[in-house]
Amino acid sequence: MQYFSGRFKEKASNLILDFHSTINFEERLAYYDIMGSIAHVRGLGKQGIVSNDEATLIEKTLREILEDIENKKIKLLVEYEDIHMNVEKNLIDRIGDIGKKLHTGRSRNDQTAVDLKLYLKDEIKKIQSYLIETIEILNNIAKENKKTFMPGFTHLQKAQPICFSHYVLGYIEMFKRDYKRLENAFNMMNVCPLGSAALAGTSYPLDMEYTSELLGFERPVWNSLDGVSDRDHVMELISALSIIMVHLSRFCEEIIIYCSNDFGYLEMSDAFSTGSSIMPQKKNPDAAELIRGKSGRVFGDLMGILTTMKGIPLAYNKDMQEDKEAVFDALDTVKSCFSVFNGMIKTMKPNKKRMLEACQSGFINATDVADYLTNKGMSFRDAYKIVGSIVSDCIDKDKSLEEMNLEEYKNFSDLFEEDIYNEINIENCVEKRTTKGGPAEKSISLHIEDVEKFLKKEIEILKNYKLNDIF
Ligand code: ARG
Repeated sequence: MQYFSGRFKEKASNLILDFHSTINFEERLAYYDIMGSIAHVRGLGKQGIVSNDEATLIEKTLREILEDIENKKIKLLVEYEDIHMNVEKNLIDRIGDIGKKLHTGRSRNDQTAVDLKLYLKDEIKKIQSYLIETIEILNNIAKENKKTFMPGFTHLQKAQPICFSHYVLGYIEMFKRDYKRLENAFNMMNVCPLGSAALAGTSYPLDMEYTSELLGFERPVWNSLDGVSDRDHVMELISALSIIMVHLSRFCEEIIIYCSNDFGYLEMSDAFSTGSSIMPQKKNPDAAELIRGKSGRVFGDLMGILTTMKGIPLAYNKDMQEDKEAVFDALDTVKSCFSVFNGMIKTMKPNKKRMLEACQSGFINATDVADYLTNKGMSFRDAYKIVGSIVSDCIDKDKSLEEMNLEEYKNFSDLFEEDIYNEINIENCVEKRTTKGGPAEKSISLHIEDVEKFLKKEIEILKNYKLNDIF
């Protein structure tokens, strides 16, 4: 039995039924589909389009159907194509003609748009919770490592000394922006398409404000064509998820580098590492590699949906059901990456000694020598040139800047005095950089305080957000 009987004389081929069915991957929408249907039928009852008794019976039966789907008592069938038709078929099987009234004044086109938005809104909150956990872990690391000095890099060449707190606080800022991007995506999609029907609204006197409010949206859509054909929210969300994956991937790339034998700045816990089948000494950062690798599939999901959407005329076209696998995959991937990432960063240990040792080579305090001369009256450009020659001399002599004696310094400029050694001491180099957002303890502490304020505020907001709940 196929739902679109009537106009058709021949039965649909099993090939097309399988090909266009979404039911095998959208069971997760069942809850939201029934939520949308309950709002719709309440609206129909309120407006006298169905009687109150009919509305009550439909709602009661829909709740029973949901329970049966959740308890796996209902088999969702490919021949009913999608979640909407499967639910409706079960409804009609149970209450007959009254069940046939549910679809009055609506289409699967507005149903699928509503279901997906309800689902995505909840998922956004879940990803935001992961981000909060990540930021909390990193902020704790930042609190403990204000004096863990390490090289900062540009071009992956040692550049200037920083501290480990400064490094992780950089990522905290990226994750805070990710959090806000999700917030924006949430707010942007918070508009209810129910009532758009197939594309042109409906002649039934629906109360769209009422159903929109019941479903927790800010307002109904302004245009029914847009209501059913807008998938901006899918593209926007996967874009935000892609940027999250870029951040996770960059961080993972650095974790991999910092865990390598030659760097040794970080020690990954055994629980998040893996061994080799042949090399007994190996401890590999597979988890970090896999997160880095999985960024590719999320970008793929984004490219897929962008490409699918770019040539679709208004309003609904079947192409658009490709939205679901893309966004489900992106969400599932990001959630699984976060759970592993958070466990991994919580248990990894900075090797303070190695990090400090690494600051002793590579002339990472060369800028400070130039600043020293500048502070004594020389122009920065002249100082820069002199220090370049000093570094070259150091290389020839296989010495560090700390190992040059005062006489050697004086060969380059009379301005050098004994206090140069204080200036190039690694801790002092870091502590001098007190600009806002810099690595000095003073700046770090201010930043940490600000992160704490952010966390306090957002945790409160998240706590008060109620995931979609069938009213
Ligand atoms: N399963 C469809 C989707 O996911 C629902 C809408 C179907 N509408 C239609 N006119 N065929 O997009």
